[in-house]
Amino acid sequence: MNRVLSGMRPTGPLHLGHWLGALENWATLQKSHECFFMVADLHALMGEYENPSAIEKNSIEMVMDWLACGVDPEKSAIFIQSQIPEHAELGLILGMMTPLGWLERNPTYKEQLREIEGRDLTTFGFLGYPVLQAADILLYKANKVPVGEDQLAHLELTREIVRRFKHLYKKDVFPEPESLLTKEARILGIDRRKMSKSYGNAINLSDTEEVVRKKVQSMITDPARIKVSDPGHPEDCNVFSYYKIFSDEATVSAVHDWCAGAKKGCTDCKKNFADILAEKLRPIRERREKFAKDPGSIRTILKKGNARAAEVAKNTMREVKEILHLYSV
Ligand code: TRP
Ligand code: SF4
Repeated sequence: MNRVLSGMRPTGPLHLGHWLGALENWATLQKSHECFFMVADLHALMGEYENPSAIEKNSIEMVMDWLACGVDPEKSAIFIQSQIPEHAELGLILGMMTPLGWLERNPTYKEQLREIEGRDLTTFGFLGYPVLQAADILLYKANKVPVGEDQLAHLELTREIVRRFKHLYKKDVFPEPESLLTKEARILGIDRRKMSKSYGNAINLSDTEEVVRKKVQSMITDPARIKVSDPGHPEDCNVFSYYKIFSDEATVSAVHDWCAGAKKGCTDCKKNFADILAEKLRPIRERREKFAKDPGSIRTILKKGNARAAEVAKNTMREVKEILHLYSV
């Protein structure tokens, strides 16, 4: 059977990029796979150890974002990494057999380094980050791991660790996980750079409709189009790229027509788009609000997810300890 594990670090509100790049895919995968979705709070501590105060709140908010996007606790185990001590335990054990060179050679998590700018990352935890991630995956013997491109190097390291384990102990306990690369739904931020919390250019899943509308209205359009009577170049316009992601073909071609034919101004065009986006986000927001009003429901979901995760994790650790001749009385 195909088992899926994925996770995200609870470092702040999720945005449209997370939805299109990951959560939509998670919601689909859970229909055909046994899924484990993990709040990687220990991984968050890697960057936030100097100021961890937001981790707990971010964890809850992130789970609400997941649920709002259709991750279904009846189908998938949603759990908190730090609540399952086996992650730390297996991480430590895998660390014993992971050559330093593999970690030092690992492409330096450009993404994280940028996010973590201004913090001291000359830590053991930062170097060992991918080993803990390998433990996350292997504890559940997941064979499919949906990740973005930035995580491929980490996944490759997990596969190397699996091969090393197999070679050292002649035991085939861990499948080599494969990545499920999420389709490049590359949505740009409202300033045309990559959508990212650290750039302050994201439309968040938790934004109110009013905030979403404001953000859309502030988007940069075709820079060559100054007056309404100037024909626009939709392909140079970020708003148009959003239309292509969020609306149907007929709408896209209508927008192209009024833009290139100078029939409608950018303010109207953005207003029209804001309506479309608000409509798309409405069910997500409504589900999110329902959970936000009922924090008890999140606790119940996580308790159940933790219990399910613990069950699998404990079995794997028992096997690993036996293979490694760790004495158990
Ligand atoms: N490293 C991932 C990130 O930064 C989060 C993560 C932790 C993860 N453990 C994982 C992803 C295991 C997939 C599988 O987003
Ligand atoms: Fe962009 Fe619409 Fe303005 Fe054309 S009319 S430049 S698509 S916002």
